[in-house]
Amino acid sequence: MCGIFAYTGNTGKEAGKVLLDGLLSLEYRGYDSAGIFMPDAGSVKSPGAVAELRKKVPQDFKGKSGIAHLRWATHGEPTEVNAHPHADSSGDIWVVHNGIIENFKELKHALEKKGHTFKSTTDTEVLAHLVEEHLKTEKSFEKAALAALNEVRGTYGIALQYKKEPDRIIAARMGSPIVLGLGDGEHFIASDPSPILPHTKKVVFLEDGEVAVISPDGHSIFKLDATKVKREVTEIDWDAEQAQKGGYEHFMLKEIMEGPEVVENSLRGRLIPEKGLAKLGGLESVAKQLDTIDRIIIVACGTAAYAGQAGEYMFEAETGIPVEVEIGSEFRYKKPVINERTAVLAITQSGETLDTLEAIREGKRRGALTLGIVNTVGSTIARETDAGVYNHAGPEISVASTKAFLSQLTVLALLAMFLGRRRGMSEEKGREIAKALKELPDKIRTVLEQREKIEALAKKYVHSRDFLYIGRKYNFAVAFEGAIKLKELSYIHAEGCGAGEMKHGPIAMIDENFPTMALAPKDSMYEKMISNIHEIKARKGPVIAIATEGDEEIAKLVDDVIYVPETLEMLSPILNVVPLQLFAYYVAKEKGFNVDRPRNLAKSVTVE
Ligand code: F6R
Repeated sequence: MCGIFAYTGNTGKEAGKVLLDGLLSLEYRGYDSAGIFMPDAGSVKSPGAVAELRKKVPQDFKGKSGIAHLRWATHGEPTEVNAHPHADSSGDIWVVHNGIIENFKELKHALEKKGHTFKSTTDTEVLAHLVEEHLKTEKSFEKAALAALNEVRGTYGIALQYKKEPDRIIAARMGSPIVLGLGDGEHFIASDPSPILPHTKKVVFLEDGEVAVISPDGHSIFKLDATKVKREVTEIDWDAEQAQKGGYEHFMLKEIMEGPEVVENSLRGRLIPEKGLAKLGGLESVAKQLDTIDRIIIVACGTAAYAGQAGEYMFEAETGIPVEVEIGSEFRYKKPVINERTAVLAITQSGETLDTLEAIREGKRRGALTLGIVNTVGSTIARETDAGVYNHAGPEISVASTKAFLSQLTVLALLAMFLGRRRGMSEEKGREIAKALKELPDKIRTVLEQREKIEALAKKYVHSRDFLYIGRKYNFAVAFEGAIKLKELSYIHAEGCGAGEMKHGPIAMIDENFPTMALAPKDSMYEKMISNIHEIKARKGPVIAIATEGDEEIAKLVDDVIYVPETLEMLSPILNVVPLQLFAYYVAKEKGFNVDRPRNLAKSVTVE
C-alpha cells in the first residue's frame, strides 16, 4: 500500500504546495519514503515521511502540475534512490505507483538488453522505461502508456507524467485504488479522495483495467484496449479523515475488511500451484543452510506470537522439524540452547519490537541462522535477520493487529510448504495446500458478510465482565488471539485456554454470567470440542461457537453460532479469527471506547 497524488491546474495555485499538503493526508498509506516531481521544477525525494521531504524541497520549487508519492516499501529498501517518482533513461517520463509489478524482472532484463539502465531496485522503475521504449514507435504519450500497461502483470494504481506535455497526467488502475478529482480549471489523481477533498467534492472512481488522462480543463477515461468509457461523477460528502478510512468508521474495521486482499498480496507470485511449490525469494540465499536446520525457535510478542503458535503446529506436521515458540521478552534471559543448526525465526508486524529484536540478536550471538516474517520493509528486524519473507499486508494503523495476523499465518503456511517440499512433502500435498490457500480470500469474504450478525452478538454480550476463549490444535492459538483482541479493545477480562486444559482450572470460573467463545470447526478435534462445550453447558455457561458452515447440530447445543466456510485444518485459523476480530471491534465500539487507540498501548513497542 502506497499513496499517490497528482495535480494539474491553471488556477494560479502552487502545485508544489497542493501536492505536499495532499501527501500529508495520505500518510496513513505509507511513510517509508516520499517524493515529488514537477516538470517545471524537477524532482525531490527523501526517506521517511512528508516532513522529511518538505525539509528538502527548495524555496523556488514551483510549478503548475506534478506527481507525488508516499512509499510503503515492497521491492527494494526504503532508501532515497528507491523513493518514487521514478524516471526513464532520458528523465522525461516519470511515474508514481502503488502495487506490485509481478513480471518486472523479465521486463527489466529485456529492457536492459535494449540499453536501458536502471537506478533503483524497485519494480516501479520498469514502467517508466517501458513507456520510453514504446514512445519510439507509438505516436503519442497516451498510446505508449497503453502499450506499456498491456505488457505488465500485477497490481497498480499509477500516475504518469511526460515532461514534454506537462499539463497532462495519465492514471491507470489494476487492483490498487485510483480516484480522479474534477475541479474548476484543475484536476487530480489520488489513491483515495482525502487529498482531493479540500479542492473539490466531485470525484470519479476508476475501475480495474481503466486508464484516464487529466488536464486542467477535463478528463477522459478508456480501457486498456483504448475503447472509451463513461464513468459517473460522485459527489463526496465525507471529510478527509473519513476518506482515509475508506468510509469506515475506524481503521480497525477497514483493516479487518482488507483481509481478503491482504491474503492475496501475501500469496502473490509465491505459489506454483500446479507443482505444489512455494517460491520465497527472500529465502533463496539461505536455502542450502535451511536444509541442515534441525530445530526452529519462533520468537515474537503478543498477536505475532499467537501466529507463531499456529505456525509451530504447521511446521511440525508438514516439515517434521521440531519447533518451539518463545516470547521475545523471556527468550533472551533464559540462556537458550542454540547451535548453528537452529533457525531463530522472528515474526513481527512493525519489525521494531524491542523484545523480538533482542531475541534475534541473542540467537545471532549464539550462532543461529536468523530469519524474519516482517511486514515493515527495511525495519530493524528485517535488516538484522539473515533472510526472511515480507508479509505485504500494507501499513497497519489501528493499534490492535488484525490484517497483519492474517498475513503472518499465510506466510507461515507458505513457509511450511517451502520447507516441507524440501523435506519429503509430496507434490500432491503441496498442491492441496496451494489450492486451499488460493481459495482463502473468497472464504474470508463470506465471513465478512456476516458483519451485522456479529455486531448483534456483540450487543448481546457487551455487558459481560469476563470471557473465556477455547480451542484445540490449530485453533488453540486462535483462542488466545481472540481473547487478547477482546481485552485490549474493550477492557473486558478475557482468557484464552486450550479446551482440554479447561478442566485443570479455568472451568471453575464458569457460571451463567461467564460466556465462552468456542472454536469448534468440523476438523479432527471436533468431537473433543463438542465434549468440552457440553462441560460448559452443564455449568450453565453461555457459549458462542465458531463452527463450520452446514453444522446444524452444534446450533442445538450452544447459545449462538457464527459459521465459517470449510478449509484445510492447518489454514482454519485464517478464517476463524476473523469473526473474533469483528466481535472484539463491535464490543469496543458499543462501549464507546477509542477502538483504534486503546488505552495504555502503542503500535510499535520499542521499550522492554
Ligand atoms: C495485539 C498487538 C500486539 C502486537 C505485539 C507485537 O493486537 O497488536 O500484541 O502483536 O506488540 O508487535 P509486532 O508484530 O509489531 O512485533
